Amino acid sequence: MTTLRGSEPQALVGAAVRGRFPIFEHTTYVNSCSQGALSTDVREAYEAYLAGWDEHGAEWEHWVERAEAARAAFARLVGARADEVAVVTSVSQAVSGVVSALDLRSRPRIVVSEFEFPTVGQIAHAQELRGAEVVHVTPEADGTIPPERFAEVVDERTALVCCTAVSYRTGYRLDVGEVARIAHDAGALCLADSYQAAGSVPLDVGGLGVDFLTAGTVKYLLASAGLAFLYVRGGLLEELRPTQTGWFADEDIFEMQIARYRPHTSARRFDSGTPPVPNIYAGIAGIELVLSAGVEAVATHVRGLNERLLTGLDELGATVATPRSSYGALVCVASTDPHALVAALGEERIVTSSRDRNLRISLHLYNVEDDVDRVLEGLASNRTLLAGA
Ligand SMILES: Cc1ncc(COP(=O)(O)O)c(C=O)c1O
Repeated sequence: MTTLRGSEPQALVGAAVRGRFPIFEHTTYVNSCSQGALSTDVREAYEAYLAGWDEHGAEWEHWVERAEAARAAFARLVGARADEVAVVTSVSQAVSGVVSALDLRSRPRIVVSEFEFPTVGQIAHAQELRGAEVVHVTPEADGTIPPERFAEVVDERTALVCCTAVSYRTGYRLDVGEVARIAHDAGALCLADSYQAAGSVPLDVGGLGVDFLTAGTVKYLLASAGLAFLYVRGGLLEELRPTQTGWFADEDIFEMQIARYRPHTSARRFDSGTPPVPNIYAGIAGIELVLSAGVEAVATHVRGLNERLLTGLDELGATVATPRSSYGALVCVASTDPHALVAALGEERIVTSSRDRNLRISLHLYNVEDDVDRVLEGLASNRTLLAGA
């Protein structure tokens, strides 16, 4: 919270935080599902990294300490202990690490939803080379995936159920807790790719009951590419021995031993090589910004903006592809030519993106009602590119 003299404390959302994101001086940025906007905080963090390097040369001890600070910051964000979090360079690395620790001999089945990001599906199918059987869960016609669809295919031969907290394709928000319960009932583990949720909707690993949760810093965590995290439920650590590994996952990295595989007792066993130090500086700054706003406050703020957006979309006669029964920050709108629509809005300095046949509009803590109104005006002037309008 920031306190303005003589006024009530103000949550760090909307107008209170927007000044830290210079892009809003000239652009309506509503594309956080692709990349969070650059803040002065993150720029300063990169500069601090460069200044330290310049002044002290190899600051290894400090850099390793920064990796621990990033681990702790992500742990706070998702309600985990720091020793349950691995620092990785991408969600892909996190998911690969998890599947590399699975014994597929007695439980060969990996369940994935059709809403997984390509990387999750591809990594699951890569396991076919070592005997996996991959089963897909498909959405209903209304774009939802009721947890019962998972229950139909999760069985006693299932090792892992992969689900995605918020779909990057439609914005649908899945009932992850229920999917985790279904997985556990069959003795399987549950992994939630939460990249489109982390920083925009509250995530609590204990409440969700998931075994693994992963997200990177590029989107609602407001930092840049090359940093992600993997939560691993503490009780599982001893039994999981990732075969995708590296020296930073060793019990004692300073021993420099080459004789044994000896994974760390904590979730660090899912770390790998040299940590991505510059991205860690940026990641800490981005996550701290989100934490100081408070994810609940961010979600409430974004929900208000999205309600305004949905009302305006209805008035335009647009077809909203996002199921209104359950969604996060991302709202998707059907288009006759999504690429042309993204380009047309770009001409008006409104930054969006597209997937499938949909335009993606994703609001975050720094957006305000004016941004929503500008998007709606932009869509009104490109009405011919909206499906159904
Ligand atoms: C839901 C989701 N998962 C994963 C990714 C990408 O993961 P990675 O860090 O492996 O590039 C994205 C977007 O880039 C995403 O939206």
